Amino acid sequence: MNINIADCTYDDVFSILLTDTGWNERQYMEELTAKTARGLAARIDGCTVGVIFWRQAFEVAEITMLAVAPAWHRRGIARLLLKSMLKNLCENGAHEILLEVRVSNTAARSLYLSAGFVEIAWRSLYYANPDEDALVMSLRLS
Ligand SMILES: CC(C)(COP(=O)(O)OP(=O)(O)OC[C@H]1O[C@@H](n2cnc3c(N)ncnc32)[C@H](O)[C@@H]1OP(=O)(O)O)[C@@H](O)C(=O)NCCC(=O)NCCS
Repeated sequence: MNINIADCTYDDVFSILLTDTGWNERQYMEELTAKTARGLAARIDGCTVGVIFWRQAFEVAEITMLAVAPAWHRRGIARLLLKSMLKNLCENGAHEILLEVRVSNTAARSLYLSAGFVEIAWRSLYYANPDEDALVMSLRLS
């Protein structure tokens, strides 16, 4: 399986939107067009199978979105996107990465724990539709 990781484009967003990742067009476009956001896409044979977006402010970065097309789950694509993002953040002087995740999202929580993130805080009713608490996770880069 030959996976190519590259800067995320409009084509990547429209391609990943065709799969049911749980994110909608407005959310993807917000990340793609935000001045402070950066994004990477994973492509296999020209087809977009996953995207990651983050924002960096000096030494602290926040992952704002990570999605892999359901047909490609459990093939290591999210882990590869995370690794590529971490390399970029290290090169750009980040010291810490933060994210929020729904407490019920066991797939994402396992992924982040396996990548070295730790749970540092709990935000009550942080999410809507459906209402749910968030866990805040952090990874310190040395
Ligand atoms: C969470 C998500 C990005 C994982 O993508 P993925 O490409 O399937 O993940 P990977 O194959 O790289 O998995 C890496 C590790 O994460 C964990 N993991 C991933 N999916 C899991 C699942 N369904 N259940 C338990 N652990 C899981 C495992 O530790 C896995 O390692 P392993 O396969 O060697 O056991 C994907 O399920 C997704 O797009 N979900 C919907 C959007 C979302 O929830 N994004 C995160 C918001 S914070």
